[in-house]
Amino acid sequence: MKITIFGSGYVGLVTGTCLAETGNDVLCVDVNADRVARLNRGEVPIYEPGLDDMIAANRNAGRLRFTTDVAEAVGHGLLQFIAVGTPSEEDGSADLQYVLQVAKSIGEHMDGYRVVVDKSTVPVGTADRVRAVLSEQLAARGMDVPYAVVSNPEFLKEGAAINDFMKPDRVVVGSDDGRATQLMRDLYAPFGRKQEKVLVMDVRSAELTKYAANAMLATKISFMNELAGLAERLGADIESVRHGIGSDPRIGYHFIYPGCGYGGSCFPKDVKALAGTAREVDYQPLILDAVEAVNARQKTVLFQRLYEHFHGHLEGRTIALWGLAFKPNTDDMREAPSRTLMEALWQAGARVRAFDPEAMDETRHLYGERDDLALCDSAYDTLEGADALVLCTEWQQFRSPDFDRIKAALKQPVLVDGRNVYDPKRMVDAGFTYYAIGRGE
Ligand code: NAD
Ligand code: UGA
Repeated sequence: MKITIFGSGYVGLVTGTCLAETGNDVLCVDVNADRVARLNRGEVPIYEPGLDDMIAANRNAGRLRFTTDVAEAVGHGLLQFIAVGTPSEEDGSADLQYVLQVAKSIGEHMDGYRVVVDKSTVPVGTADRVRAVLSEQLAARGMDVPYAVVSNPEFLKEGAAINDFMKPDRVVVGSDDGRATQLMRDLYAPFGRKQEKVLVMDVRSAELTKYAANAMLATKISFMNELAGLAERLGADIESVRHGIGSDPRIGYHFIYPGCGYGGSCFPKDVKALAGTAREVDYQPLILDAVEAVNARQKTVLFQRLYEHFHGHLEGRTIALWGLAFKPNTDDMREAPSRTLMEALWQAGARVRAFDPEAMDETRHLYGERDDLALCDSAYDTLEGADALVLCTEWQQFRSPDFDRIKAALKQPVLVDGRNVYDPKRMVDAGFTYYAIGRGE
């Protein structure tokens, strides 16, 4: 099948590459000419394990191309995927300008049947708005061309994106057009060989399903973080509690890890956007507001630990920081808890020495050169002259470090574990003052 993908970010690139992998002829289009030029030179602008090789193989096979030429792109694909960003507006609602811009481009150039597929995360009712833009553009050109707009939200996780796309739990398709539905079923047939994975529903339900999934996942995390705060104050251990509840299959072990708050490009923005949608229809989003508030509080917990340990005197202190990305296996720093911590430390007059296996360039890009930030070459380099070590992102390489070396290098053996990866007893036996999340004082 001929496929066009608007947007060559995380979702567009992964979608385009995985659809090329199953034999489709894919043309990716992006307004960012530099990004397209890099992709055409074989460079991959994002860090996503396995993506480089897969892009290279499909480019070599002639099934995956990149362009900035919108007319060519609209001419190419029977299916036109919209995979552009939908960032938060100041009031938390989703900014649809990029989505609607793509719809306008498609309407300006299409001259035969097209299925326009919303893959971006968009509020309920967006497909109607896309449809309105398409018909307005076609009317302006005096053309009467049939088309369908379907919703096909994406559920991939950064860091595991290829596996998530190639072996999806489900593929949600919101469609009220029989021909478009069949095309979507055909497209996704190779991704669910053992069982039918495509769930067809009405467009609005599909749009809401995406927000419901992210909001439910964010709720699980905020719930556990709130319980962690409670466990701490009650002298209980949240890790025992996590095992104790996770063993009930109705609750399950997945996605109930307490930590220093959820970050990333999606949970924060999607929870806010769904709450905004609720307010638009005069329905108070009690749970969603609480999920957001708990997360905002949780992102300050690491700073609080340090503030209390040093009795409010952080000025002139140096803090070593392991992990900057919002989670392991990505270089993405959007809404990362590390940023809340660093910014609070700077505000308090402390310096930060940081290391992340992938997010150093991104940190440099975000904060530039500053006296109170040293970006170090290795995890151990951060410890030089530091008063405490904080673990913010649980990269594999931080999980079993040389504790003797850490203790010897730190000015004081203070370790704040924002992801509960170390064993408290072992840390105390090794002579550390050890703080974790929800594991007693
Ligand atoms: P991104 O910011 O990484 O990429 C968006 C790309 O779209 C950019 O390269 C930008 O230049 C391009 N673009 C903007 N306007 C364009 C236009 N008119 N024509 C062509 N290209 C244009 O965004 P992303 O992380 O891929 O997210 C895209 C959407 O998918 C969002 O709605 C997001 O919520 C959703 N989503 C993201 C993830 C994720 O893990 N990142 C997962 C599921 C869903
Ligand atoms: C999330 C969803 O998991 C994807 O299904 C969805 O497609 C995507 O958002 C999206 O819509 O963009 P992602 O943001 O890549 O994916 O990352 P997650 O693995 O979900 O982690 C999000 C945040 O929650 C991270 O900061 C992580 O550290 C935190 N987290 C996760 C916890 O604190 N505890 C957990 O148990 C799990």
